[in-house]
Amino acid sequence: MPLRVHLVAGFNGGSGRTLTAALLAYGFHLQARRTLLVRQTYAGSVSAIDPIGATLPLPCCELSLPKPYELPADLTAGLATTIHDADGRFMTALTDLATAEIGADGDVVVDLCCHERACNAATIRYGAVILVPVRASVLEIDWAVRSFSHILDSQRYRDTPVPTLLAAIAPDSERAGQTAFLSGMLRDFDPEREFVPDEPREVIVEVPFLDGASLTALLIERPIWQDPTLFERCRIFAAAVALHADACMTVPTEDADDL
Ligand SMILES: Nc1ncnc2c1ncn2[C@@H]1O[C@H](COP(=O)(O)OP(=O)(O)OP(=O)(O)O)[C@@H](O)[C@H]1O
Ligand SMILES: [Mg+2]
Repeated sequence: MPLRVHLVAGFNGGSGRTLTAALLAYGFHLQARRTLLVRQTYAGSVSAIDPIGATLPLPCCELSLPKPYELPADLTAGLATTIHDADGRFMTALTDLATAEIGADGDVVVDLCCHERACNAATIRYGAVILVPVRASVLEIDWAVRSFSHILDSQRYRDTPVPTLLAAIAPDSERAGQTAFLSGMLRDFDPEREFVPDEPREVIVEVPFLDGASLTALLIERPIWQDPTLFERCRIFAAAVALHADACMTVPTEDADDL
């Protein structure tokens, strides 16, 4: 099986990308897959402490989003967007890094930053799956649905869009309500069902929820990963994501269908 690249994306800060990526990577690790977790940084991003990378029992790296190409000032906005969309330098560097760390057939989970160039067409086309985390409040659901729609819309003209999922983060007591609300919002955003299936639940996967004690433990770099319940939930989460990824696993071709 070739390298599977799982992209965790979203355009607003604090949406749950880092924890979702870590929990997914741990789930693959538990399935005895060679797994690498990569946190994407960008020039000028604050270098935060990484309590997850410090405790997670699998390789974790940082990889920077390259600086944008310097383009002539009189270039049209459309052409500039096309060039930035075709910028595949991050994916090339990611593939090299992953091959060196885990070989050519493992799972890579990428915690994309929320920079507008993070999830460009050249990055998306090499993804096996894209996850957009969604937290429980109305505002956060609204943001996540916007990110989700944007990612799907950017693939509108591709023959084989990369499966894009909403990764729902909520305590068990709030899951049903969150799913119902999220499904309603997806229907409202896409009344013609261009992107969203008739049953929106098909694009929702459940992220294991960490309680306050686990979040605090992580923050002070105390490992939480041996908890059997978390084990099982991460395994189920990774299996659900892999089902979608494997269903659409294609080798990207060189045709410029996303330019
Ligand atoms: N699986 C989860 N269980 C419980 N709470 C979560 C979970 N995922 C995210 N959260 C909550 O959301 C907050 C933000 O999560 P996280 O740091 O993963 O988001 P992010 O999108 O990576 O943020 P940033 O923009 O700072 O990179 C966490 O501090 C936590 O309170
Ligand atoms: Mg983060």
